[in-house]
Amino acid sequence: MNQAKATWICALLLMWSFTGSATQNQTVGEEEQALLNQKEKLNDYFGNLISWTTAAGLSACQWFHIGCSNGSVTNITLGGRQLSGSLACDLGRLRSLQRLEMQDNSITEEIPWALGMATRLQHVNLSNNWLTGGIPHSLSKLPHLRSIDLSNNNLTGIAPKFRKGVYVNVAGNPLLRSC
Ligand SMILES: *[C@@H]1O[C@H](CO)[C@@H](O)[C@H](O)[C@H]1NC(C)=O
Ligand SMILES: *[C@@H]1O[C@H](CO)[C@@H](O)[C@H](O)[C@H]1NC(C)=O
Ligand SMILES: *[C@@H]1O[C@H](CO)[C@@H](O)[C@H](O)[C@H]1NC(C)=O
Ligand SMILES: *[C@@H]1O[C@H](CO)[C@@H](O)[C@H](O)[C@H]1NC(C)=O
Ligand SMILES: *[C@@H]1O[C@H](CO)[C@@H](O)[C@H](O)[C@H]1NC(C)=O
Repeated sequence: MNQAKATWICALLLMWSFTGSATQNQTVGEEEQALLNQKEKLNDYFGNLISWTTAAGLSACQWFHIGCSNGSVTNITLGGRQLSGSLACDLGRLRSLQRLEMQDNSITEEIPWALGMATRLQHVNLSNNWLTGGIPHSLSKLPHLRSIDLSNNNLTGIAPKFRKGVYVNVAGNPLLRSC
């Protein structure tokens, strides 16, 4: 699938998920649903995400590798968990997310454009995976971003310009260009 097409499907799914939320099962919260959709896209051979369930009334803040503040998901810390699979557009629904760490896994496919809708993001570490495609420009627009580490992937295209003062590491992507 080419990147433009993937971006559109992502955008449509995201719009659908917002407009459709009123009719969704009310017992599953917005953040839980987003994370469960992300879980579905990951192969979790070692059961690191086994606690990600709404059974027994668990909320995302009680799940392993999730950090919360004021009852909202702020941290996802899944570095080095032997995860494969891909990133879900649904990460963009986590409106309080500040830290996304999924480095040192085997994650493939593209970084979803919709990740840039998680506008509180400060730190993104996706280094040492198998990510392909371009770096979405939406990430370079994140107003609170302080560091983004995308090193050692297989990203392509032209890297967007990030704000001054943002720590950016895109080394080890042989097909990525900057201008
Ligand atoms: C909503 O989810 C709960 C827990 O997963 C389930 O028991 C219930 O049947 C669901 N309700 C509907 C209307 O889908
Ligand atoms: C989120 O991660 C940062 C940096 O590791 C840490 O200082 C902070 O306490 C974490 N917050 C939560 C709610 O887990
Ligand atoms: C949590 O709420 C307090 C008080 O409303 C606020 O000062 C703080 O910034 C909030 N923390 C986050 C991570 O949103
Ligand atoms: C991202 O994770 C890698 C691998 O664990 C680590 O070496 C690197 O320092 C991290 N990057 C940032 C910006 O923290
Ligand atoms: C990296 O991307 C290029 C171009 O899309 C592709 O030909 C190559 O097979 C990829 N390599 C790996 C290790 O994914």
